Amino acid sequence: MSALATQGLVKSFGDKLVLSGLDLQVNHGSITAILGPSGCGKTTLLRIVAGFVEPDAGVVRLGDRTVVGNGRSVAPQRRRVGYVPQEGALFPHLDVAANITFGLPRALRGGPRIGEMLELVELPRSIAGRYPHELSGGQQQRVALARALAPEPAMVLLDEPFSSLDASLREGTGRSVVRALRAAVATAVLVTHDQNEALSLADQVGVMRKGRLAQVGSPTEVYRAPVDPEIAVFVGGATVLPAQVYDGLARCALGVLSVPHAQARGDAQVLIRPEQIQVDDGHEDGVAARVTEVSFYGHDAALRLDLLPSGPHVVARTIGSAVPPTGAIVRLRVSGAVTLFDPARPGALATDLA
Ligand SMILES: Nc1ncnc2c1ncn2[C@@H]1O[C@H](COP(=O)(O)OP(=O)(O)OP(=O)(O)O)[C@@H](O)[C@H]1O
Ligand SMILES: [Mg+2]
Repeated sequence: MSALATQGLVKSFGDKLVLSGLDLQVNHGSITAILGPSGCGKTTLLRIVAGFVEPDAGVVRLGDRTVVGNGRSVAPQRRRVGYVPQEGALFPHLDVAANITFGLPRALRGGPRIGEMLELVELPRSIAGRYPHELSGGQQQRVALARALAPEPAMVLLDEPFSSLDASLREGTGRSVVRALRAAVATAVLVTHDQNEALSLADQVGVMRKGRLAQVGSPTEVYRAPVDPEIAVFVGGATVLPAQVYDGLARCALGVLSVPHAQARGDAQVLIRPEQIQVDDGHEDGVAARVTEVSFYGHDAALRLDLLPSGPHVVARTIGSAVPPTGAIVRLRVSGAVTLFDPARPGALATDLA
């Protein structure tokens, strides 16, 4: 049995259909990231699960309890769901200790719980008496998580918990939140519009589109075997090129690529991830291209290249020590398995995940 299951969730605000039949299953003790663009209905989904919004139709189950559906709606405080909202998570007039124990029965408020919760979220006990405005953004996020976890909820919902943090704080806070969730053996749903966050933190990623989950899978599944080009581009850098497929080969602007398990023949599209394109400035073979843009990140660099003489542009990633300059003429080769999209059968893929 899943820790959380939603079935056919529908929700409109006025004449705007936000959720159009959303199904989701979350296993006990796992972390699911819901990934989707701004305004697609991520917060609405969490608020329905938490009980702050009633869906127009559909069922929500938490473990073996139906909390919404079949004419039933369990009050939010009786769902055993911890909710960390997108903004303003902490009470500004309460110190850290009072924030953390806010949802606990009075008898438990003074005990060792505060220290335990601070330890769980990797904060020093010495900050218990501080107020939210005396904490950094990352510390505030961790206190908010500690408050959500303190009553030992069956399920924790986190709405873009790291969106207000700068890049350097974001990754560390994300990691420490995930460690705390795992240590508490909590089941969590985390909403984000950042694909790196979704792929790196979660066990399961659901990609929202048009009010539903267009794909649900492990991070490697959605990255390596996206169900269509739109999701491919949404979950990471991607070059999608038209191709002709025959006999386990795909002919495209980047050469003839091997797709050994492909069932398709005829016109298709291939997905090539930036790290699959090898850039070589000494080699004779490969497809000639001109570097038009270099984004240097230190550990690696992203290159935008125009295929010569007048081909489409592609995106490649190279390690930081071997970055050609803008304007350089290089040779490109594709390594590893590529994903094939068959335009005649959307969603039905012939993929090679070898
Ligand atoms: N209470 C409400 N009344 C009217 N419209 C609403 C309400 N709540 C949400 N909406 C609308 O529903 C849509 C989905 O909103 P929601 O907040 O769920 O999106 P989101 O995916 O969380 O976006 P973001 O990434 O910007 O937080 C938006 O168009 C929003 O304007
Ligand atoms: Mg939102």
